[in-house]
Amino acid sequence: MRFDRSLELYEEARRLIPGGSQTNSKRPQHYAYGAYPIYAKHAQGCRIEDVDGNRFIDLTMAFGPIVLGYGYPRVQEAIRRQLEHGTIAGLMFEAEVEAARIFTETVPCAEMVRFLKGGGEATAAAARIARAFTGRELILNSGYRGWPDVWAAAHPLSKGVPSVLKETIRNFPFNDIPRLDRLLNEHKSQVAAVILEIPAVEPHDGYLQAVRDLAHKHGALLIMDEVVTGFRLAPGGAQERYGVIPDLACFAKAMANGMPVSAVAGRADVMKVAEDLLITVTYGGEALSLAACVATVSELRERPVNEHLWSVGAELRDGLNASAQRHGVPFESTGPAPMPLMRFDLADKSEADRVWTFFLQEMAARGVLMRRGGWNLVTYSHTREDIRIVLGAADQVFGALKPLLGSPQLARALKTTEVGSVAAGAVRSFVKEPA
Ligand SMILES: Cc1ncc(COP(=O)(O)O)c(C=O)c1O
Repeated sequence: MRFDRSLELYEEARRLIPGGSQTNSKRPQHYAYGAYPIYAKHAQGCRIEDVDGNRFIDLTMAFGPIVLGYGYPRVQEAIRRQLEHGTIAGLMFEAEVEAARIFTETVPCAEMVRFLKGGGEATAAAARIARAFTGRELILNSGYRGWPDVWAAAHPLSKGVPSVLKETIRNFPFNDIPRLDRLLNEHKSQVAAVILEIPAVEPHDGYLQAVRDLAHKHGALLIMDEVVTGFRLAPGGAQERYGVIPDLACFAKAMANGMPVSAVAGRADVMKVAEDLLITVTYGGEALSLAACVATVSELRERPVNEHLWSVGAELRDGLNASAQRHGVPFESTGPAPMPLMRFDLADKSEADRVWTFFLQEMAARGVLMRRGGWNLVTYSHTREDIRIVLGAADQVFGALKPLLGSPQLARALKTTEVGSVAAGAVRSFVKEPA
């Protein structure tokens, strides 16, 4: 398997594009530089062909947007139909109202909805609405919300963000009620909202309900960031799955099967505040994405899409865990089955980096694309046979990995001279020789 065209394009990208990519997580040093594709030529169903003509089963799925599968016919058709009429105009297209209608019929908390473009935009809008509604400034946050200043102030990569903003946000850990309780008590009458996502673990029984009750006791709103979980865990997202209705919720990724649209939705009395706020984007009513949203959500409502994600996701997650255990490899996959998170449980960070690089390069060599340390995702287009192929490949790779663990042979088995880490900002990996 060769990646010559991918490497040629990326050499040019490194000269022309800061970081070489528009999405930090797509930087090739996070994978296995030189032994893993960088550029896609064509994506269909759960499969990708790269620019060198290699074909793969994909589990990265654009990091969340693809829930039905690449190029899903019903969504393609809706986009084509809207394209005949126009993408955007000085008047609004009917697609805005159609998308708002199906959205509010499907998402439990959504009495009203505003459409934006990115997940970070939707979460930033939710923060502004919550602050305007409560007249308070502090936000308690658990997890990643996107790149805007409002969130970056509490992120390790906060260079370039005004330091005063740090005072407007505090982070708290998921599934830890005492810590949240302490924070709310330390900042009485200051907290506008508590915002969280469902991360790599399922919420403890009663956790989300307790967060909502605590937030409300302190006069704060509960915002659920459903950018990843929305339309994936259930048509109505994590709030439907776990039976807890937030005041506001944010959506992006899966809501239009890969078309760029996001949303903030929630209680009508809270959402109405947005009428008088500076929340406005030229492309918010872009109709191709809204038509794709209507088609995607309709498909979720009419077919057993979410059931399929839970069942094939569990086969993937549990099959990988069983295989790793059989080979004595310290690998673990956890979390809700439609979005299993994967990690190697190794204390030595450099060893974990090398192990991941080996795993990704060997899975790619066997025709499977996976992601380092993040969510690997299933879609409605992944069949049981696809998962069987992935598990067969992983079983071989775990078997090959076992004797290399803790040995200098592992570094020699890598097809890159240096192993990038997720935290590293710059490209640090170089190809030993074209794989
Ligand atoms: C939970 C969550 N919220 C917000 C975002 C930001 O979304 P976007 O990258 O579309 O701005 C992400 C992105 O991965 C996310 O995972």
